[in-house]
Amino acid sequence: MRSQILSLAATALTFSQLVVGQTTTDCNPLNSTCPSDTALGKTVMVDFTLGENSEFSAESGTTITYGTNGAEFIISSDGVAKTIITNDYIFFGKVSVALRAANGTGIVSSFVMESDDLDEIDWEWLGGNTTKVETNYFGKDNTTSYDRSTSPAVSDPQDTWHIYTIDWTPAAITWSIDSILVRTLHYADALDGANFPQTPMRIKLGNWVGGAADESAGTVEWAGGSSDLTEAPFTMYVRNITIEDYTTNGTSYTYGDKTGSYESIIINNNSTSTNTSYSVGQNVGSNSSSNASSTLSSSNSSSSSVAVSSEGSRRLKSGGFVLGLVGLGCTYLVL
Ligand SMILES: *[C@@H]1O[C@H](CO)[C@@H](O)[C@H](O)[C@H]1NC(C)=O
Ligand SMILES: *[C@@H]1O[C@H](CO)[C@@H](O)[C@H](O)[C@H]1NC(C)=O
Ligand SMILES: *[C@@H]1O[C@H](CO)[C@@H](O)[C@H](O)[C@H]1NC(C)=O
Ligand SMILES: *[C@@H]1O[C@H](CO)[C@@H](O)[C@H](O)[C@H]1NC(C)=O
Ligand SMILES: *[C@@H]1O[C@H](CO)[C@@H](O)[C@H](O)[C@H]1NC(C)=O
Ligand SMILES: *[C@@H]1O[C@H](CO)[C@@H](O)[C@H](O)[C@H]1NC(C)=O
Ligand SMILES: *[C@@H]1O[C@H](CO)[C@@H](O)[C@H](O)[C@H]1NC(C)=O
Ligand SMILES: *[C@@H]1O[C@H](CO)[C@@H](O)[C@H](O)[C@H]1NC(C)=O
Ligand SMILES: *[C@@H]1O[C@H](CO)[C@@H](O)[C@H](O)[C@H]1NC(C)=O
Ligand SMILES: *[C@@H]1O[C@H](CO)[C@@H](O)[C@H](O)[C@H]1NC(C)=O
Ligand SMILES: *[C@@H]1O[C@H](CO)[C@@H](O)[C@H](O)[C@H]1NC(C)=O
Ligand SMILES: *[C@@H]1O[C@H](CO)[C@@H](O)[C@H](O)[C@H]1NC(C)=O
Repeated sequence: MRSQILSLAATALTFSQLVVGQTTTDCNPLNSTCPSDTALGKTVMVDFTLGENSEFSAESGTTITYGTNGAEFIISSDGVAKTIITNDYIFFGKVSVALRAANGTGIVSSFVMESDDLDEIDWEWLGGNTTKVETNYFGKDNTTSYDRSTSPAVSDPQDTWHIYTIDWTPAAITWSIDSILVRTLHYADALDGANFPQTPMRIKLGNWVGGAADESAGTVEWAGGSSDLTEAPFTMYVRNITIEDYTTNGTSYTYGDKTGSYESIIINNNSTSTNTSYSVGQNVGSNSSSNASSTLSSSNSSSSSVAVSSEGSRRLKSGGFVLGLVGLGCTYLVL
């Protein structure tokens, strides 16, 4: 699932252009020269029980409330999605989120990492399913599906706190629940790296209505059926999130060319610009678990592949987020 990050310039487009242009980004470094991405460059622990955090910005149309369960992403009867996104980017790293998914048939809770050239790593929960979570990934906006998603088992993700982790290195991506590995994707297994997410990413947390009346049949089916907004509110809770950027002390990341390869990413700090020294298969980070973790077994997780149609995938990836387009006189627009 992928949100649209529209620039102010994009708001000048017509409604129909926006609907057609579902998979745009502010600036795609694969075909444009884009501004550098601000680097996180360190580890941050965000405790949402303390309230709003400056590391995140709310997307237009989003208001988040905070309580003892942390950030509350509330879908009310108007069906408006709620999304926040980090201001800074990480270039490989480890992200752990303590989350309770939203209730409700067709309601989709999500924790997504996404880059400017549309590499993406996902966790998604369906409100109507109390026994599974979905993992997924995309490389460079390649939305053909095959067997990219899996559905690890998880007990009662709506009413039980679990910690969901993505550990992302040049060697592999791992998804873990409560420190139990549920999936490993090695670089070579993602179309010899071509589909392997490898460019600087922001972290996005959101809750949206996949079972909305205006979603495609494929999206509604994937989301578990039609949503009944009269049963709202449907609330996703995020108590805390720890974000570790494996590239330390950088101030920004620049695409050195238009390949979208991790090797082309230039790490800038206040004194120098250096091309990354990462190489395929390299383990980085404070706890390079991508190799070690692959020996862990997942005691109560049964993984299964779920085929999502190409069309369903494209729709669901773009269907989740609501953008404020005040300039167009719309309060919001679901893309
Ligand atoms: C750049 O690539 C994006 C994503 O593929 C596409 O939507 C956009 O139209 C392209 N822009 C140009 C100027 O080619
Ligand atoms: C939840 O998802 C699992 C795995 O796809 C499936 O076997 C199960 O039937 C689903 N449960 C419901 C209530 O849809
Ligand atoms: C997209 O991914 C599919 C499945 O792995 C692959 O067959 C196809 O060549 C990829 N397309 C591009 C443009 O890389
Ligand atoms: C695994 O099972 C145990 C005991 O049944 C449960 O407490 C735990 O939450 C489960 N873990 C996941 C990830 O569902
Ligand atoms: C889900 O619904 C049940 C029953 O209404 C409620 O007790 C529970 O708090 C809800 N969970 C969430 C995450 O909203
Ligand atoms: C984050 O919240 C979870 C769930 O309540 C809790 O178990 C964990 O200790 C918290 N982590 C931190 C770093 O506060
Ligand atoms: C870079 O310089 C800015 C402005 O002087 C400073 O605030 C920041 O801490 C520096 N960052 C690093 C990583 O040295
Ligand atoms: C990053 O900056 C900190 C604080 O200045 C320093 O202690 C650390 O050695 C630096 N790490 C790297 C990899 O440059
Ligand atoms: C980094 O690599 C890219 C592509 O290989 C190259 O175009 C660029 O000049 C390099 N930049 C630096 C600072 O070495
Ligand atoms: C900037 O990067 C260079 C090369 O990696 C390193 O030697 C230098 O210590 C870094 N400076 C800061 C302020 O982190
Ligand atoms: C780590 O994983 C990489 C990629 O699969 C593999 O080539 C390498 O041999 C592994 N290293 C160790 C120490 O297992
Ligand atoms: C490193 O990761 C492994 C595998 O996930 C885990 O067993 C170990 O406790 C971790 N070590 C630290 C210091 O976090």
